[in-house]
Order: sequence, then C-alpha cells, then structure tokens
Amino acid sequence: MPVSRTFVMVKPDGVRRGLVGAIVGRLEAKGLCLRAMKLVSVSSAMAARHYEEHRGKPYYPELVQFITAGPALAMVWEGREAVAVVRALMGATDPAKAAPGTIRGDWALSITENLVHGSDGEESARREMEIYFSPAELSAGPGSTASA
Ligand code: CDP
Ligand code: MG
Repeated sequence: MPVSRTFVMVKPDGVRRGLVGAIVGRLEAKGLCLRAMKLVSVSSAMAARHYEEHRGKPYYPELVQFITAGPALAMVWEGREAVAVVRALMGATDPAKAAPGTIRGDWALSITENLVHGSDGEESARREMEIYFSPAELSAGPGSTASA
C-alpha cells in the first residue's frame, strides 16, 4: 500500500476542551506526517458539504449545529495506510464502544461530540481536503519547494 493522505479534524469539543495537543501528539507519535493544519470556523455551507452523506439522518441537525458552533482544527496527515491508521487511532464512532487506548475511547462519551473526524476512504479524503484547504495549502510542506 503506497503512502496516502487523510483529512482529520479536531472537532469543536476537542478545541474547547484543550485536547488539541494530546490528539495531534498521538498522530505524531504513531509516525504520521503532518502536511497541513489550520483553525477553522466551519460555515453551514462547509458543514453541508462535509457531512452530505448524512443529510436526512435524525442526528444531522444536531451534528451541523455542533460542528459550526466553535473553532475546529482541520488537518491533512500522510503516511503508510494513513486513512485506516487514523480510523484505528480514533476508535469507534460511539465513544461508549470505542476501545480504551483510542482517542474516543479515552476522552469522549457523547456520540455527536466525539472529538475527531477522519476520512473513511481515499476518495472521501480527497473530497474533504478540498473543502477545507486550497490547492496551494495542500501542496505546501516537507519536500515541497513552495513558499508561503
Ligand atoms: O465519524 P465517523 O466516521 O466515525 O462516524 P459517521 O457514521 O461517519 O458519523 C459522522 C458523525 O456524525 C459522527 O462522528 C458523530 O459526530 C455524528 N453522529 C451522531 O451524532 N449520531 C449518530 N448516531 C451517528 C453519528
Ligand atoms: Mg464518517
């Protein structure tokens, strides 16, 4: 499996609770490489694009309200099987069922306010990165000749 990239977000609950450093630290310690990062106020339009596959679900209004309610940290991480590796580090969607040792398993309990988002595949990773980052932001980083 070649090196891949995934889109990761520390959701507003993680920023509010001061868990940015702890969450980023786990991804770094695993050996993943940080390629892009910024604090964003997610607009209703961005939330609708990000969570389009969930439109119509009973939890959708609460999810959009939550994700737009405060600053979130948008990131791109790279590494061997990055999509699957980040999903494993996050733990199950429902933190009550997430294994201890995972981000959600250790630090969350609410299904909606479950601290992190990670893309569920290569295609969604590409799609989600483009919601939050410009092409220039996505090409910057280690190995790049681009200047800020
Ligand atoms: O985030 P993940 O890919 O693990 O789960 P998802 O099924 O793609 O759901 C996206 C997000 O919707 C979750 O992370 C929760 O924040 C929220 N959600 C919820 O509030 N209630 C549910 N029953 C399922 C998901
Ligand atoms: Mg998902």
